[in-house]
Amino acid sequence: MKTRTLGHSNFEVSALSIGAMGYGTLKDRSGLVDVLRAAIDRGITLIDTAEVYGPWVNEEIVGEAISGRHDEIKIATKFGWNVDQTSGVHLGGVNSHPEQIRSAVEGSLRRLGIDCIDLLYQHRVDPDVPMEDVAGTVKDLIAEGKAIHFGLSEAGADSIRRAHAVLPVTALQSEYSLWTREPENEILPLLEELGIGLIPFSPLGKGFLTGKVTPSMQFEVTDIRSRAPRFTEQAQVQNMVLVNGIKDIGQRLGATPAQIALAWLLEKRPFIVPLFGTRAVSRLEENLGAVDVLLSPEDFNEIDNLSQDFKIEGARYPDDIMAFSGL
Ligand SMILES: NC(=O)c1ccc[n+]([C@@H]2O[C@H](COP(=O)([O-])OP(=O)(O)OC[C@H]3O[C@@H](n4cnc5c(N)ncnc54)[C@H](OP(=O)(O)O)[C@@H]3O)[C@@H](O)[C@H]2O)c1
Repeated sequence: MKTRTLGHSNFEVSALSIGAMGYGTLKDRSGLVDVLRAAIDRGITLIDTAEVYGPWVNEEIVGEAISGRHDEIKIATKFGWNVDQTSGVHLGGVNSHPEQIRSAVEGSLRRLGIDCIDLLYQHRVDPDVPMEDVAGTVKDLIAEGKAIHFGLSEAGADSIRRAHAVLPVTALQSEYSLWTREPENEILPLLEELGIGLIPFSPLGKGFLTGKVTPSMQFEVTDIRSRAPRFTEQAQVQNMVLVNGIKDIGQRLGATPAQIALAWLLEKRPFIVPLFGTRAVSRLEENLGAVDVLLSPEDFNEIDNLSQDFKIEGARYPDDIMAFSGL
């Protein structure tokens, strides 16, 4: 597996990383454990989770998958949504007060079964807590040996600068893909300037860019796509035109749409490590094939222009979630 270094840090990981979150109700816990173990077996060295996934359950599953193998894999997790620290219920909104961060980190370490988190993110910026306090708390946790690297998720330029001034930020995790290109305006140049790596989540557009999601598909209520404007039947019909264009280019290059979507991100900048999700080993293997899809400058430009010129229908998240994005 090819590797990449996140910005100016010394954090080297596989060129592709895997997330454990998934969509809808998890029906096969041991299946997810198997997929994560298969990912490690095939050379992935960064697994992503978060306190709020589940909440808590997802970290436990990751803990099971990596049991006895932390020397082979780096673990990223996140604090910052307002999860009640006694019941594990997400009470809504965000919470990055220092005592909440500390409690969440203790819980994450316990559930993951590790004594140090390799990459600790703030999941969303908390407007009620100065970024200096958040970075300062993570700095203390790093000094105590509970974490190694600091990351932010969906943070805006000002938040990134303020955090980085207190504690170097190793990676920003934000949505970025062929149908979500907002980070290119301000964020990508800033990350380049400060030497921060980018971990694009939902690089396959929550599945849509693979061509396997179709407008007639019904999502469970627990699946965020059931209420994301981009996934209404009408929006999907319009957005499918982009996917068909990606499919055509892929067919010419002998690659699947998922591989094209990932290869385009890998080609975009050397400090980008796409973060895909899957609950199937066959899809894991397909996605890993993206590192071997070499795009010529002409191929890259064709894909880049196709997506740039396309007007996407619908917001990527419902309003209540978009409200916390700094992008
Ligand atoms: N920081 C944040 O706020 C944030 C937000 C969202 C996600 N994340 C992280 O990013 C990770 C990835 O996000 P994501 O799940 O939205 O990524 P994604 O890779 O864009 O989408 C995953 C979806 O695509 C499907 N899929 C994956 N590979 C496929 C393939 N080759 N062919 C057809 N379908 C395929 C998966 O289905 P199957 O599972 O059925 O294979 C799943 O429904 C998450 O696990 C989480 O760790 C972070």
